[in-house]
Amino acid sequence: MRVEDVNVYKSRIKQVLITQEEIEREVKRAAGYIDSLYDGKPIMLVGILKGSFVFLADVCKRVSVPCELGFMCVKSYFDGTDPSGEVRIVMDLDRDISNYHVVICEDIIDTGRTLAKLKNMLGERKPLSLDIITLLDKPERREAEIKADLSLFTIPDKFVIGYGLDCAEYYRNLPYIAVYSEE
Ligand code: IMP
Ligand code: MG
Repeated sequence: MRVEDVNVYKSRIKQVLITQEEIEREVKRAAGYIDSLYDGKPIMLVGILKGSFVFLADVCKRVSVPCELGFMCVKSYFDGTDPSGEVRIVMDLDRDISNYHVVICEDIIDTGRTLAKLKNMLGERKPLSLDIITLLDKPERREAEIKADLSLFTIPDKFVIGYGLDCAEYYRNLPYIAVYSEE
């Protein structure tokens, strides 16, 4: 059963968990939160690639204060025996963030290990402030101590796809969030 077969591809999209309308409503809330951070100093919205690209694109269109966009790509290396693991920056921000209010926009917090490390790494660069907004939150799976400043949807421990989130690089382009299953 190959996912390249369009029937197989479609059959694995099990259930729409969050609709486009629901996402839109929460995206506005995220933009309102970003607006509220404005104090005359520069704001940088940081998207973590690839998963957050759709979310960040939608949020930034709703923001009404001056803001810049930055992108990072990170790879996590964790294994069962070493929960401290390592997060390697594959692509870094292209400027010094010490004069910015930085807002990390994440697609999902699962174990939280990636974001916990990333928060420390960016914190060391001494931004004016550092906030985390996550579209999705799976608190049942949490292993690292990390809490988003704004979490838009709390979801159960299911593997989800769409709106930037993938399974083996597919499904990122779905306009909604769905549960993925091969059964
Ligand atoms: P963690 O919080 O360090 O465990 O890693 C979170 C990352 O794992 C996210 O940024 C996603 O790329 C990926 N991930 C976690 N749960 C899911 C899911 O349900 N669907 C798709 N990707 C997921
Ligand atoms: Mg991700």
